[in-house]
Amino acid sequence: MTGLFPHTRLRRTRASGWSRALHRETVLTPADLIWPLFVTKGNGVEEPIASLPGVSRWSVDGIAARAKEAVRLGIPCIALFPNTQPDRRSDDGGEALNPDNLMCRAIKTVRDACGSDIGILTDVALDPYTAHGQDGLLDDAGYVVNDSTVEVLVGQALNQAATGADIIAPSDMMDGRIGAIRSALEGEGHVNVQIMAYAAKYASAFYGPFRDAVGSGGLLKGDKKSYQMDPANGEEALREVALDISEGADSVMVKPGLPYLDIVRRVKERFEVPTFAYQVSGEYAMIEAAAAAGAGDRDALVLETLMSFKRAGCSGVLTYHSDHAAKLLNG
Ligand code: PBG
Repeated sequence: MTGLFPHTRLRRTRASGWSRALHRETVLTPADLIWPLFVTKGNGVEEPIASLPGVSRWSVDGIAARAKEAVRLGIPCIALFPNTQPDRRSDDGGEALNPDNLMCRAIKTVRDACGSDIGILTDVALDPYTAHGQDGLLDDAGYVVNDSTVEVLVGQALNQAATGADIIAPSDMMDGRIGAIRSALEGEGHVNVQIMAYAAKYASAFYGPFRDAVGSGGLLKGDKKSYQMDPANGEEALREVALDISEGADSVMVKPGLPYLDIVRRVKERFEVPTFAYQVSGEYAMIEAAAAAGAGDRDALVLETLMSFKRAGCSGVLTYHSDHAAKLLNG
């Protein structure tokens, strides 16, 4: 008889470290990580973010130092998010188009510091620039208007690409924005600037600390449910991904991460394209709170959750634990 106990004992290959290493199906390395960083104005400034313990906003000099650290640790890419000063926020988010805005200054400083040793991913959405904290332009009823928002997002993406961004990552969830941005990038000769689409982004309760970090949380009235996805929906995520790929996305993202690993798996199996997940701010805070409360070992929690993204089919993960995880992985 084959396949039955005692001939088959699955514990046999687990009995020693060398054998577990030999049979391991998934690997996690620093090259799987994208490190989100928050930019603030000034020089020599570090502002800790209370709801995101261990994470700070940095002025551009500090961002360059973090980028150099990423290179040293083997982290291939950073993701930049600006905390725009309040007097630069407006109803139309016009600061997003300013070639000298915080985002662009950070791109230039990182490029000067690291050359092409690091990928720079930039977020496209208007929430760090609007006085109302929504990702797009509002009509009189407070509805986020799709098509005129896309026009502004195209300008924002071109501004970032012209400054030196490597990956444009639209996180706004407007319809048609990937195609519009791709056409504009091609039109301006940015043929090798990639697009990572936040394709399946859910209206999640896990974004709170991020909104504190970029300073949009206190401004936001209402929610983002008219553009971000309903957490109940899976099929719709596949439609979002299909559209973004057809419009020219180079890679797609599922966000948040841990509560949506089923979506990651479905996307990967259906489309076989580079698929990323964003382990968002609330997930980071949840792990930190669990560790602080003694509910688990911090290092083990970090590595186990990151490994789960790889196992689910991710090419990589955006995580605020990137530096810590890379240090652990590098031994
Ligand atoms: C905004 C944006 C958000 C995040 C990334 N880009 C928040 C939101 O949609 O309100 C969340 C990331 C995180 O929580 O870590 N366009």
